Amino acid sequence: MFSKYKKTKAAPPPAPKVTEAPKAVAPAKFARKANASAAVAAPLDKERKRKERMGEIKLELHRALLDNLNLAALESATDTDLRQEISAISSEVLQEKNIILNREDRQTLNQELFDEVMGLGPLETLLKDDTVNDILVNGPQQIFVERDGKLQLTDVTFKDERHLLRIIDKIVSAVGRRVDESNPYVDARLKDGSRFNAMVPPIAVDGSLVSIRKFKKDKLGIDDLVEFGAFNEEMAAYLQAAVATRLNIIVSGGTGSGKTTTLNALSSFIDNAERILTIEDTAELQLQQTHVGRMESRPPNVEGKGEVSPRDCLKNALRMRPDRIIVGETRGEEVIDMLQAMNTGHDGSMTTIHANSARDGVSRLENMIAMAGIEMPLKAVRSQISSAVNLIVQASRLQDGSRRMTSITEVTGMEGEVISMQEVFRYQRVGLTPDNKIIGHFTATGVRSHYSERFRMWGYDLPASIYEPIAAE
Ligand SMILES: Nc1ncnc2c1ncn2[C@@H]1O[C@H](COP(=O)(O)OP(=O)(O)OP(=O)(O)O)[C@@H](O)[C@H]1O
Ligand SMILES: [Mg+2]
Repeated sequence: MFSKYKKTKAAPPPAPKVTEAPKAVAPAKFARKANASAAVAAPLDKERKRKERMGEIKLELHRALLDNLNLAALESATDTDLRQEISAISSEVLQEKNIILNREDRQTLNQELFDEVMGLGPLETLLKDDTVNDILVNGPQQIFVERDGKLQLTDVTFKDERHLLRIIDKIVSAVGRRVDESNPYVDARLKDGSRFNAMVPPIAVDGSLVSIRKFKKDKLGIDDLVEFGAFNEEMAAYLQAAVATRLNIIVSGGTGSGKTTTLNALSSFIDNAERILTIEDTAELQLQQTHVGRMESRPPNVEGKGEVSPRDCLKNALRMRPDRIIVGETRGEEVIDMLQAMNTGHDGSMTTIHANSARDGVSRLENMIAMAGIEMPLKAVRSQISSAVNLIVQASRLQDGSRRMTSITEVTGMEGEVISMQEVFRYQRVGLTPDNKIIGHFTATGVRSHYSERFRMWGYDLPASIYEPIAAE
């Protein structure tokens, strides 16, 4: 049956016996009290044993597969072919070993084996699960996922650290990178576009750390974000005017707060006739316009060569006649070129930064400029920033897991040595529900936009009512 992809060699060596590593026994002092009733404990115990047994069978079958399959020939095999081969080999081995499994277990096992051979093993089911946003691996036995803004521990595990390392290696070698003791961390992009980061021992102390930001094919658009309560319709109308009239915008926020999603949604307001160049570490943005040039910066290779930094991309982009430049994230010396671009005719450029408020965002920019080694008086730095940046949009992940645009702040100029800003919209928190959901609403602050005249001139005559604050209920 499985002749096509079978290695042409003598009988395969017998599969080695699976031996469990001795488990550490917790000292009695710290042992958990056995307070669960036997009626509850028994099925749990049975389930655990079943999982252990399935794990052992899987390991044996996996070895048998590696011994039997001609991996080189697999490259050209279709999925259907491979599934048939796997099913045939596993039936044969199960029969040989007198192991009887029900249909469902057999199907699960074959799927897991397929994922091991072709995909990313235990990660595969999580990658396919559309409700999962992030996958976070803390060593082989602990995998968390983020669903609806909340972290949850899954029951998915790797067999051991070697298994986890093998999957990491598979991912990074596919993109021509290496990760080992001397290069213990790596950033990569998975085939499906997901962003992948791994750090391996000894830097990762308790086993490899992996973080995956899943790629969403259908990025959240403005309408989705309004529907999900990320901001309201008035804010959307204001943002449309801001993007269309080419204000320079910075999206500020913490890790995973929705910065890239916001940037992507904002870009939908750009006119289709404009030439847009995007620069990212890992290409995540999905612009809908026709005229888009995408760039992805590249870290140095194993020999420390071949780096193309975001700054290199940005400098080059300026020679490519862009109407707008979008930088996925500004975090280093590229800030200089970004501000310069914003100041010199590439109005309507956008980027994101890691910061917790508009004011904090401005300090971050100042720090980045200082770190880039630019010796300029603080006042001059601030004046550069204030003339380059028009708008700071704050994205936040609140404690109940919801992601909201908590503030829209305009940069209006300089007052003495200080950059002056005014908040135009904000998310007003009013309390908490008994199940810890935040109660609040979006409101204008009552300040009329500094740019309302510009909006009007460009044909975006926003009604004065959108700047009226909403009274708390
Ligand atoms: N308003 C929202 N409602 C629901 N989910 C959202 C919202 N905004 C973003 N998300 C989801 O949250 C996850 C993180 O979003 P995103 O990648 O935009 O964050 P980020 O701030 O750019 O993160 P990082 O700091 O890691 O770059 C994504 O999976 C995205 O689909
Ligand atoms: Mg991002």
